[in-house]
Amino acid sequence: MALIERHPNVPDYIVEMSLKEIADRGGIADLFEEGHLILIKDYRLKFDWKALAALSKSTESISDAELRRKLKKLTAPYFFEGKPPEEINGKLIFRDPIRQAIYDTLCRGDLETFERAARALRYSHDEALRIFDICFPHYEPFRFVPSVRLTRTLFENLHWDNHSIDDDFHQARVFANLDSRPRIWSVSHRFTDWARDHYHEHDLGRFAGKDPNLMLNYIAGSVLGGTANTWMDSEPRHRVAFEPGEVWLGESRLISHQIYYGEAALVYMWFVKVSTMASPDRRFNRQVEAVHQEMQAKAAAA
Ligand SMILES: [Fe+2]
Repeated sequence: MALIERHPNVPDYIVEMSLKEIADRGGIADLFEEGHLILIKDYRLKFDWKALAALSKSTESISDAELRRKLKKLTAPYFFEGKPPEEINGKLIFRDPIRQAIYDTLCRGDLETFERAARALRYSHDEALRIFDICFPHYEPFRFVPSVRLTRTLFENLHWDNHSIDDDFHQARVFANLDSRPRIWSVSHRFTDWARDHYHEHDLGRFAGKDPNLMLNYIAGSVLGGTANTWMDSEPRHRVAFEPGEVWLGESRLISHQIYYGEAALVYMWFVKVSTMASPDRRFNRQVEAVHQEMQAKAAAA
């Protein structure tokens, strides 16, 4: 089980539950939508750690910035979906430039390295889909972003995710540690709790009726320091060391989080039709709107 240090000044929203317990209660959509962090108890991916350890972590030899970005937040199926390569003049040529860059750079042009990583990532992909179905049997996704992070992450600042999309959507997220070492996170206040507690101090009423990402950017950037001033953030936090192969789920726009250390991870995201949620009123934009309404009603009554 993950090692968890719970901070007494942060609500304890961490739930540990086995896949059987989740299946027996008909999924965890309700808990997820309420902003719980759900850890899958008694479950570990039987992942081939060495498959990813053999990959090159450096993409600096690629001059195309867009291609480098695509390798950093890599879409897992590029490894195992698409036309097989053709051998031309003794070199393997892929039709897709991303698959070619994976092969040439990450796998250093070695077919065995490529095939072994592809097998490992196909397995974790299938498991993530199976876990999604058990956790969210009623969710209907309309977009799927299956990413893997294969480069080291250190000392992120505490933040809530901003997908730079103001659409009123719901997201489901599954995370897994794909490394043989722990993946270390801190998690702190949920966005709506933080906004309620600091509403007047930061005059958050000025964001009412606007894209919630504007308020999110202000708090994560100007208040907590963002990527520029990481030392500004002094929020209390729970510390979690996820074990190798451990799987967890959480709405990362609601739960503030900080990757403190991690090598390789699966980060899958589904955009979900709001009408298929356990409580459509718990979608992110609506929860933020409800905070504004609640705080403004309180101010009017005072
Ligand atoms: Fe994040």
